[in-house]
Amino acid sequence: MATLILGIETSCDETAAAVVTESGEVRSSVVASQADLHARYGGVVPEIASRRHLELVSPVVAAALDDAGATLEDVDRVGVTQGPGLVGALLVGLSAAKAIAWARGLELVPVDHLRAHVATMYLAPNAIEPPFTCLLASGGHTMVLAVRDRSGFEVLGSTVDDAAGEAFDKGARLLGLGYPGGAALDRLAGEGDPEAFSFPVARVQGLDFSFSGLKTALLYTVRDLAEDELEARRADLAASYQRAIVRALVGRLRAAAERTGDTTLAVVGGVAANSELRAALPEARFAPLALCTDNAAMVASAARFARPLRSPGYLALDAYASAV
Ligand code: KG4
Ligand code: ZN
Repeated sequence: MATLILGIETSCDETAAAVVTESGEVRSSVVASQADLHARYGGVVPEIASRRHLELVSPVVAAALDDAGATLEDVDRVGVTQGPGLVGALLVGLSAAKAIAWARGLELVPVDHLRAHVATMYLAPNAIEPPFTCLLASGGHTMVLAVRDRSGFEVLGSTVDDAAGEAFDKGARLLGLGYPGGAALDRLAGEGDPEAFSFPVARVQGLDFSFSGLKTALLYTVRDLAEDELEARRADLAASYQRAIVRALVGRLRAAAERTGDTTLAVVGGVAANSELRAALPEARFAPLALCTDNAAMVASAARFARPLRSPGYLALDAYASAV
């Protein structure tokens, strides 16, 4: 029997569990999104997220085991996101992982969420090997990374204000697309002219990113349009706004690769699902669509390369909110 790793992810508003083998084969990946629950507030409400994770974590783990044709008896190790994320949300997954591992005397591997996104690239059947230069663009983070080995990375640049996914979500909100609006904005942009409006790509030092000015530029443009005009030009606005974000991401990733000298480029995180970004970087390897946004297969994948903790040493483990 292959060594099976159970992954658990609850850092934000997705409750996820997955079963992955030591060689990186995904046996199952279950994601229960709470997006609908948070939509009416226009963003994730931490306390609501924690409570929903509590309700969902056991059934989601059960479903992941079931989909993999496995039971807890078959699990050899448990990997779980320790941070960064919402602490109350993280604690639900971490507690569940501790309970499962401790009850069976298994090793537990605390996993960093950002490393987990990168570890998506180590999953079969299209795994890549370091060294590579990686763009990680999600709702919470945007950075370019030099990945030298499978246990971590060096940060070459990161956003000084909003994350790219956050810029997509805020833009989507201004265009009346609901929350989280990245995917909806992507779809609407497909019907518009990306050259219709000129939005600035912020100039920041080195390999850093900045997206807050872009959001303000969209806000002013939307505010200055009459209501019927705005309705008629929504797709053009979405396309032009998306073009500006994609330009910034592509420019930084290519500049980072020039600096590292890497010939392999990779893109991970929720924004890696963006169709224009995927088309704009034909030379890069992208995370599979289903594994761009938060999931637990990437967590189990990262658990293959992080230090396992023996039972019961992990019982005192705490969650952390910010990147370490
Ligand atoms: O990686 P992820 O699930 O969460 C974090 O770790 O933050 O990323 C979620 C983000 C959201 O901001 C969402 O709007 C964005 O990814 N996203 C997209 C697309 N699909 C998801 N952004 C642009 N285009 C998409 N197709
Ligand atoms: Zn994420």
